[in-house]
Amino acid sequence: MRRKPIALLLATLLIAGSMFVAAPPPAAAQQVGDAVRPGNPRLADLMEASQLRHIKLWFAGITGNWKLAAYQTKQIKTRLQDAASLYQSLPVNDITTMANPIDAVTAAVAAQDSKAFVKAYGELTKGCNSCHSELKLGFVELKTPAMNPFSDQVFEVKKK
Ligand code: HEC
Repeated sequence: MRRKPIALLLATLLIAGSMFVAAPPPAAAQQVGDAVRPGNPRLADLMEASQLRHIKLWFAGITGNWKLAAYQTKQIKTRLQDAASLYQSLPVNDITTMANPIDAVTAAVAAQDSKAFVKAYGELTKGCNSCHSELKLGFVELKTPAMNPFSDQVFEVKKK
């Protein structure tokens, strides 16, 4: 007789436990990247493409190749837009917060303002990292590139 309440408690705990297990995961991170359909780029590949453009944007900007910098900014913007529309489990907040730094980079590039470019680029990088840490991907950390790995592309504006 004395065991009954304990058994009941145990059963309750088990039911509660299984409910907890069955509940949908709170963070989107687990689903992100899994929604790949034939013909769609993988999220990690869109990200890698953004990373390459993140590097190229820096060297275009600091060498004052504003046309190339504008081009790279657009490339980053469209990759992030594609990521948002193809992978809807990505948190909306983290996508919309990218709009500000992208606009700031676009404005600095249009104004050919090196100082504003460096500042906006820093904000852009922070935006990349803040989504990553939000999704428990803090180990994917971006920074300002130290050297240009694209030795096959001309970044300097040719003197006429
Ligand atoms: C809205 C969220 C979000 C934003 C903003 C974001 N990322 Fe990501 N990023 C992710 C997710 C999610 C993954 C993991 C993708 C996967 O593994 O399927 C990822 C992975 C990556 C990776 C790892 C891929 C690899 O192969 O090494 C790189 C690099 C990366 N992101 C670069 C960037 C850059 C650069 C920016 C900013 C220009 C950026 N990300 C902005 C969500 C984001």
